[in-house]
Amino acid sequence: MGPLRVLNLGAGGFIGSHLTQRLLAEGHIVTAVDLYSDKLGENLEHPRLTFLRQDIRGDWNLDELVEGSDLVIDLIAHANPGLYIRIPLDVFRLNFLENLKIAEACVRHGKHLIQFSTCEVYGRTAASLPHAALANPEDPIHATFAEDSSEFILGPVNKHRWIYSSAKQLLERVVHAYGLQEGFHYTIIRPFNFLGPKIDFLPSDNQDGVPRVFSFFMDALLTGAPLQLVNGGHQRRCYTHIEDAVECIYRIVINAGGVCDREIFNIGSPYNEVSIRQMAEIMREIYARRFATPGDPLSEIVELGGDEFYGSGYDDSDRRIPDITKARTLLGWEPRWRVQELLESTMEYHVDEFRRKRDALSVRVS
Ligand code: NAD
Ligand code: UGA
Repeated sequence: MGPLRVLNLGAGGFIGSHLTQRLLAEGHIVTAVDLYSDKLGENLEHPRLTFLRQDIRGDWNLDELVEGSDLVIDLIAHANPGLYIRIPLDVFRLNFLENLKIAEACVRHGKHLIQFSTCEVYGRTAASLPHAALANPEDPIHATFAEDSSEFILGPVNKHRWIYSSAKQLLERVVHAYGLQEGFHYTIIRPFNFLGPKIDFLPSDNQDGVPRVFSFFMDALLTGAPLQLVNGGHQRRCYTHIEDAVECIYRIVINAGGVCDREIFNIGSPYNEVSIRQMAEIMREIYARRFATPGDPLSEIVELGGDEFYGSGYDDSDRRIPDITKARTLLGWEPRWRVQELLESTMEYHVDEFRRKRDALSVRVS
């Protein structure tokens, strides 16, 4: 197979920037579309990369770009829970309406679309329901989600966190329907909490933004503020290193033998389940051992309610473990990173970045 012309929408984000790096390293030709480009770094100068700073909510040459590509990857979304609470309508408009236009352009031009969805479509576990009468609610079987057989359990409409999950779910259903009725070629990816360098931003750098939990905890450790556990930090997540994730995504890009056509893939590490409380404790221990200045007080861990932290309408996934049988059997993929090393290496990157920026600032001021 020769080089692919890849239209990478959302290439300036966390996943998009790592994926762009891999696509370029493998010799492909990338058209990258995003509002921001800083995470693309030196790749902006790459001769096989064209970067288009574009808000996809306006008028733009979508059809022309889709027609000129071999493969379209759509990563664009509001992807942080804080936004689902603050601007639920914008979440619906971007994550469903705008993404649908991209999918329909791929249908019109007969192009394969890799659509990023989310593990949030699975929602909560049956074990979390108040009337659940399960013999062993802790059995991981109740929290292990498979692409083509698991039920989706979402909260009520007034818990509007679920608008993200619902918008992504509806997009999946429409894309699937185009496959059935019009022979559309697509692959849907459901990521399970990817983590690694360049995830989100530190809240102290962007006072208005609401990143994901790693960035809140990292920022707290760097500034001595408390690590805040929402609703006690009992919720569990399976963290997946971005390097493992990109390896799997790349195998989907190559799609050897067409095995990914009209398939949905969970991408995640079932080995890396931690509660958010455990994650806070591990990060605090790593910080004390590796990065803290001796004698400086270490951040405390405190608890607060979900509505207090995010605002009203917050709800949560209690637990989610990916069933990765499909990625294993069809793609021969297996995640390698384990949670301790994953957190330690991601922290190392962000501590270095924080100190580099702080030093640059103090040189400018003096
Ligand atoms: P991200 O926020 O880093 O990336 C999204 C990118 O979309 C950003 O660079 C942003 O600037 C861009 N974007 C937003 N609005 C835009 C607009 N109007 N026009 C042009 N660009 C716009 O998030 P991410 O973690 O890289 O996630 C990428 C995709 O994967 C999203 O669809 C997200 O829902 C999904 N996802 C990610 C994870 C994860 O673990 N990171 C988990 C589940 C789902
Ligand atoms: C997020 C988003 O829904 C999606 O981007 C994506 O589907 C998913 O991550 C993913 O990465 O797979 P979530 O895991 O809830 O979902 O996102 P975080 O903001 O990282 O929150 C994780 C947990 O930590 C939540 O229970 C949250 O309440 C908690 N939290 C968050 C804290 O306890 N303290 C904080 O400071 C921030």
